Amino acid sequence: MITVLVLVLSALACKHDPILNGGIDPTDTLPDPPGNPGGNPVTGVPCDPDSVYFQNQILPILISNCTESGCHNAVDKEDGVVLSSYAGLMSTVEHVTDPNWGENKLMRALLDDDPDDRMPYGKAPLSQEQINLIGTWIQQGAKNNSCNENQGACETAGVKYSAFVQPLVQARCQGCHSGSAPQGGVNLSTYAGVKTYAQNGKLYAAVTRSVNWMPNGGARLDDCTLDKLKAWIDAGAPEN
Ligand code: HEC
Repeated sequence: MITVLVLVLSALACKHDPILNGGIDPTDTLPDPPGNPGGNPVTGVPCDPDSVYFQNQILPILISNCTESGCHNAVDKEDGVVLSSYAGLMSTVEHVTDPNWGENKLMRALLDDDPDDRMPYGKAPLSQEQINLIGTWIQQGAKNNSCNENQGACETAGVKYSAFVQPLVQARCQGCHSGSAPQGGVNLSTYAGVKTYAQNGKLYAAVTRSVNWMPNGGARLDDCTLDKLKAWIDAGAPEN
């Protein structure tokens, strides 16, 4: 893992140098589950901390930051690019499996120095951590893999804003719900914003709707995540 990280970091520091694919296990590629756009971590494979999982980690970043109205969703297809599914990414972004960042159109768009060309367009760049995660996923073979984050029991006692809710909202919601024109007028970029929608009931309602649930266009949050979110809201949505 350390070798992979070093490779990623050095590749990012010098983005036009080719780097070697780490040659990691190509077996756990899964199709999108039918009727479940974007897929859910429904398989029994426990998450390996050394692997990056498309359905659990990469697709949520793309959905949250790239697929809002007018952008790279299956309807608007800005520039012919669809980033709301694995199939869309693979068929509409050139060289997306290429571990040479100079060739890889996804990494080029994320790393471009020119704000007019860099993605997400008109917004802050993705964090270094998110870009590194995408880079590692490509180096590991750019597979359509997923894992089950909740092997064993679902622990809903003592759910923390800092350790659970904030990272969840940041990863799955803030791409659309932050900035000067947040989607639906809902700003979830601060604790105060999240608390408002937690306490008026709209947050939990939005993630549990039977159609058009949030994250918009993405997979439903899994049951354990929903239970933890509800436990935190029921506890008064504390800033803990
Ligand atoms: C791809 C963009 C996108 C993502 C990602 C996204 N949303 Fe939304 N959200 C929207 C849009 C567009 C609306 C307004 C239309 C609607 O309500 O469906 C909205 C509306 C909402 C509303 C208001 C619903 C109401 O009853 O008025 C809430 C609350 C919300 N989102 C929460 C979330 C949460 C929580 C997440 C993350 C788990 C999330 N959203 C992820 C685009 C997004």
